[in-house]
Amino acid sequence: MILAGEATRSIQRTADGRGARILDQRLLPWEIRWVELRDADTAARAIREMWTRGAPMIGATAAYGLAMALAVDASDDGLAAAYAMLVETRPTAVNLRWALDRVREAVAPLDPADRAAAAFARADAICDEDVALCRAIGEHGQALLRELAVAKGGAPLNLLTHCNAGWLATVDYGTATAPIYLAHDAGIALHVWVDETRPRNQGALLTAFELANHGVPHTVIADNAGGLLMARGQVDAVIVGTDRVTANGDVCNKIGTYLKALAAADNAVPFYVALPYTTFDPVTADGASIPIEDRDPDELRLLTGPTGDGMATVRVTDSPAYNPAFDVTPARLVAGYITERGVLSRL
Ligand code: MRU
Repeated sequence: MILAGEATRSIQRTADGRGARILDQRLLPWEIRWVELRDADTAARAIREMWTRGAPMIGATAAYGLAMALAVDASDDGLAAAYAMLVETRPTAVNLRWALDRVREAVAPLDPADRAAAAFARADAICDEDVALCRAIGEHGQALLRELAVAKGGAPLNLLTHCNAGWLATVDYGTATAPIYLAHDAGIALHVWVDETRPRNQGALLTAFELANHGVPHTVIADNAGGLLMARGQVDAVIVGTDRVTANGDVCNKIGTYLKALAAADNAVPFYVALPYTTFDPVTADGASIPIEDRDPDELRLLTGPTGDGMATVRVTDSPAYNPAFDVTPARLVAGYITERGVLSRL
């Protein structure tokens, strides 16, 4: 990832090796502030309150959180309690459970005295693997975008994405954004329509920030604008990330994704989903069985932004509000899954 012109990763160990450093995504794009997580409770809070977010990044943060817990109490009871606390922080992204399982299985057979170091090492490995997975997704996705660009005779490709499935949501590259970054770097002309992504505005605040940092042409649109643009032929493909893909190929992602898939189907625009194997949940049969997170209605009622004189929060409505954070796109609406193994029509 490129942040202020420098290549870095969105989660790293702290200098002393006993904690993890993340970007506080609640402040972006207005302020770039790194936060040090030094205990499991703070790591859990960072996930729950969305200081950090995005399926692979939640997993990486939880993995380090479990390691931090083991540095305090490495007993079997300590391991079980920290696992239980972290796995409940957010219910929808399956990467959270996947990452915690990987750390737990690595440390459970060990003497408690060796568990914390082994857990930190496993968390590091999860991060390294995530970078490799996203890079591979990017390479396969880039080939796909090249084909679409050739079919357009070299005219700039117009892509549409929803929410943030970029490097802020992973350790590097992102999932949906990896093909975009690699294609842009390879000289394929493209432009990205960035869904604002109400209520938390991950598109307008985070994806637009990432694309700007990388120099990728982009335009933020209201969530409701995508259908019109597709009907007018102004979208060549939709690429989104996902929090969980079930055994039958249903795709759970940020609320509003399903509407984009419907509009894409009605306008013969291919709808692609980018994911690493860590987001595939073969145990859950279909999307209807995924726990959908309901978040605080105030995320909908309040808007916060800079005034030129600090940050201000304004009220959009006082009415009762309902804030489901994710929806499910049926597998039949997915043109392809961009994975580290290639672009697949079925998982
Ligand atoms: O609520 P968020 O911001 O964590 O939701 C994130 C998404 O919906 C992403 O698209 C998904 O996690 C994939 S991240 C590579």
